[in-house]
Amino acid sequence: MRYWLAIPAAGLGQRLGAALPKQYLQVAGRSLLEWALAPFVGDPRCEGIVVALAADDRWWPQVRERLSRPLVEATGGAERSDSVRRALEALAARTEGDPWVLVHDAARPCVRLEEVDALLEAAARHEGGALLALPLVDTLKRQEDDPSGAAAIVARTEPRAGLWRALTPQAFRLRPLLAALQAAAAQGRAPTDEAQAIEWAGLGRPRLVPGAATNVKVTTPADLALVGLLLAQPGALPGASSIPAARR
Ligand code: C5P
Repeated sequence: MRYWLAIPAAGLGQRLGAALPKQYLQVAGRSLLEWALAPFVGDPRCEGIVVALAADDRWWPQVRERLSRPLVEATGGAERSDSVRRALEALAARTEGDPWVLVHDAARPCVRLEEVDALLEAAARHEGGALLALPLVDTLKRQEDDPSGAAAIVARTEPRAGLWRALTPQAFRLRPLLAALQAAAAQGRAPTDEAQAIEWAGLGRPRLVPGAATNVKVTTPADLALVGLLLAQPGALPGASSIPAARR
């Protein structure tokens, strides 16, 4: 099954407190964005890449010059969902038909080809789309409203049965996903993943595909340290060689 990869990479990653936008932080010799791209750049099923970038992004050209794939670029928006929508609008303007699109966060550098394979297999069977996800394993505590904000207090324990954490990539047909994101934007709503936009629009019943616990999203310095350990392992991501190393 052939697909386009859509990467929202227009965030600032302020929670990390770094001088660079987080997608350009270096881990195990490459930027997070390059690690996130690597399995797809090495995948013959990937027809091309559409990327949403911040208007003042100075770092992208050094990544772009080493990507041997058709590329479409868009300027991102205020929310992640705006960035994905703009990327898909740019793709829709240049593409005939209704290709599959895999939307993947630049902040998830450890996705493995086996996860992509499982996602594509599910998407091939379900026109309504599919997403990688992980069943919750921890006990869930609801925090009590504490007007002083001094300490978090347990209000109650929430049932976790049937709850999953949504990961990326998420696979949808271009045109329904774009229509769903445009409808959400027109209502002033920002879905936090693609599946939520599809759910709101009633345009499909996305399938949950078990992903890997190593498919970590980098949000905090601790996440960065964790993915550093994962990516430093020999053979961590076989696809990494699909992007030549940057010139020093
Ligand atoms: O900030 P967060 O970790 O949720 O961002 C997830 C992904 O969405 C990152 O790849 C980030 O660059 C991207 N993003 C974006 N446009 C925004 C906010 C986030 O492309 N306005």
